[in-house]
Amino acid sequence: MYISAAILLSLLQGQVRAHTFIWGVFVNGVDQGLFKGVRIPAYNGAPGAGGYNNSPVKNLTSIDLRCNVMGDIQAPDTIKVAPGDNLTFDWHHDFRSGSDDVIAESHHGPSLIYISPDPPTENSFVKLWHEGLYEESTFPSPGKWSTTSDIAKNGGHMNIRIPADLKAGHYLIRAEMIAFHEGEVSFLKNPIRGAQFYPNCVQIEVTGDGTVELPEGVSFPGAYSYDDPGIVYDIYCSTDTKKTRTTACTTTYPIPGPTVWSGAWAETTGVPLGGVSAPTRATPWSTWIKNSVVTSATFTDTKFLTTMGTSTYEASWSSTYQTPAPATKRW
Ligand SMILES: *[C@@H]1O[C@H](CO)[C@@H](O)[C@H](O)[C@H]1NC(C)=O
Ligand SMILES: *[C@@H]1O[C@H](CO)[C@@H](O)[C@H](O)[C@H]1NC(C)=O
Repeated sequence: MYISAAILLSLLQGQVRAHTFIWGVFVNGVDQGLFKGVRIPAYNGAPGAGGYNNSPVKNLTSIDLRCNVMGDIQAPDTIKVAPGDNLTFDWHHDFRSGSDDVIAESHHGPSLIYISPDPPTENSFVKLWHEGLYEESTFPSPGKWSTTSDIAKNGGHMNIRIPADLKAGHYLIRAEMIAFHEGEVSFLKNPIRGAQFYPNCVQIEVTGDGTVELPEGVSFPGAYSYDDPGIVYDIYCSTDTKKTRTTACTTTYPIPGPTVWSGAWAETTGVPLGGVSAPTRATPWSTWIKNSVVTSATFTDTKFLTTMGTSTYEASWSSTYQTPAPATKRW
């Protein structure tokens, strides 16, 4: 079959659409570089099969809810931080720039940040911060949501501060955005809809001589349930012009998961950020997954893709800390 270069190029450019994830981390305002320390999600679909364009996690019992698709695969590098350091996660959609839309404007929902020792164990994720609906929805506005009105409007920047006196060691930070544009019904009842989860994990090493250990937290998967009012939520209820709803609209939103740990900083204000180091654009993904089959490809240049082969994949989380290998690039 002949595929023109123009069509292939548009296919490739389409790959990094409609999906938000962390493209970089600033430590005290200093950019660490493209995808440094970030476990980059694979695509849970394949070209031409729809999934290439989008990979929200929707299944609450799937291991993918922990650190996204293929989230057990380590990043080759780890970000060194100290207690009290200010981290800014740089979420983007298509490329690392202030002109990128970060997340589609319909994707209203909360943002959340957890920390766990690396590797996670039973109930090891502790919540450090969350933000949900912070300005009430009143007709005709859906209100102000963390993802679309805060993070997206602030250039994709999500801030967190490393807890004071936190014990040295390897940790995973699990940052997440949840989108409710199809969230009025659970994925369990209607698998073509349901809330969309965009979790992303960052590998950090906390240095110093801190003494504070994390308390017991929650598990991913496990922390969220389909009965949770913060998981099935109708963001369009109060803005519905057809008034088809039979139940009253709620005007408050209960953020899912546990309460924020008392050891987290009460405020996570942004610190001034320096410039973003090059590169700011990614080569299209060379790995994608569909029904547990991973396809790898190489790009001989920006216009041409060669499929290198397929293999089956099952997430495999180690129970002990593994030093990341200087892995081959997956993007
Ligand atoms: C959700 O994930 C679980 C655990 O991997 C799996 O058993 C189940 O089939 C998945 N459900 C759907 C609808 O894909
Ligand atoms: C982190 O930000 C807070 C609030 O702006 C500031 O007081 C603190 O000094 C910062 N920490 C570091 C290590 O720069």
